[in-house]
Amino acid sequence: MNDVNILILGASGRIATSLIKFFRLETSHRLILLSNFTEKLPHYEGYTYYKVNSLDFKEIKNICFKERPEVIINAAGYTDVDKCESERNTAWDLNVTLAENLASISRVIDSHLISFSSDYVFDGLKGPYTEDDKQNPINFYGRTKHGMENACLYNLNTSTVIRTNCIYASEAKGKTDFIRWVLYKLEQGYGVEIVEGQFCNPTYTEDIAVVVNKVITKKRYGIYHAGGPDWLSRYEIAVTTAKVFSLDETLIKPIRLNQLNQSARRPNKGGLVNLKAVTDLGVKFTPLESGLMTLKQSMRDSRFTFVLKGN
Ligand SMILES: NC(=O)c1ccc[n+]([C@@H]2O[C@H](COP(=O)([O-])OP(=O)(O)OC[C@H]3O[C@@H](n4cnc5c(N)ncnc54)[C@H](OP(=O)(O)O)[C@@H]3O)[C@@H](O)[C@H]2O)c1
Repeated sequence: MNDVNILILGASGRIATSLIKFFRLETSHRLILLSNFTEKLPHYEGYTYYKVNSLDFKEIKNICFKERPEVIINAAGYTDVDKCESERNTAWDLNVTLAENLASISRVIDSHLISFSSDYVFDGLKGPYTEDDKQNPINFYGRTKHGMENACLYNLNTSTVIRTNCIYASEAKGKTDFIRWVLYKLEQGYGVEIVEGQFCNPTYTEDIAVVVNKVITKKRYGIYHAGGPDWLSRYEIAVTTAKVFSLDETLIKPIRLNQLNQSARRPNKGGLVNLKAVTDLGVKFTPLESGLMTLKQSMRDSRFTFVLKGN
């Protein structure tokens, strides 16, 4: 497929940051970037920027109708799982109503709509899950993601839903994730209590960018699971992180599920089987240890650049 016009919503987010980096370095696609915080985005020649809130559906419709992108990537989302329990209206508007609007817009302007979902659409009784397993969310975030999947897949033939989980990124832009949180605590010498019984497959965001690009170039619709190759408990992920970064793993204390104090329930045996993305798209997912080594190197490089600039 030739270069395409791709519109990305929520462009300052973690997954969007990796997408933008990947598209700029590996493709010649033209990007139209929508964000509340365009001033925080790297500005590249040939890209178009709109400062807009993802909840401003009218303005988003105007921009989409003006730009008529071949592909719309919805990387905006209400991603704080615990806050979703109390901020239900905003969470529903951002995670579901936005998707409904984008599916309608995409039908009119013939766009390929790509959205992100989560293993939290499942109940966690028998993970890791395949694309064919039945959703049964156990918290409000999961219900919004289930609602989003239905809004996209039932209303638009040219819709792709990419489910992922426990992401970690080489570029954070001030945002955090589970692995960066563990790193921060251990580097400061703080003890952390991490649950043993919750399983997922940590996913390097640059692999998600590869999946998205394959889905665009191969014109694939439906559901794809983008999850890393290691199925691990949160405790095991934290210990692996400590080992790779040569930090004190004795600071990590395993705790049981019933000792967790979170507003939202989490699936226990969550996680995603990535076989369809591997075989149909030809994606090779990064093992956790290799991803952590790359992360370590990129953190070293950015500290080095910072010191040089500081001088
Ligand atoms: N993080 C994970 O581990 C994970 C796992 C599975 C699925 N996902 C899904 O992947 C998608 C992207 O996740 P992410 O982790 O990259 O998200 P993120 O870093 O939290 O960024 C989401 C973006 O959504 C916009 N946004 C957030 N709250 C908003 C609000 N109240 N009003 C208006 N806009 C708001 C912001 O974009 P702008 O300010 O740039 O407009 C924000 O940067 C989401 O749909 C998420 O549910 C994430």
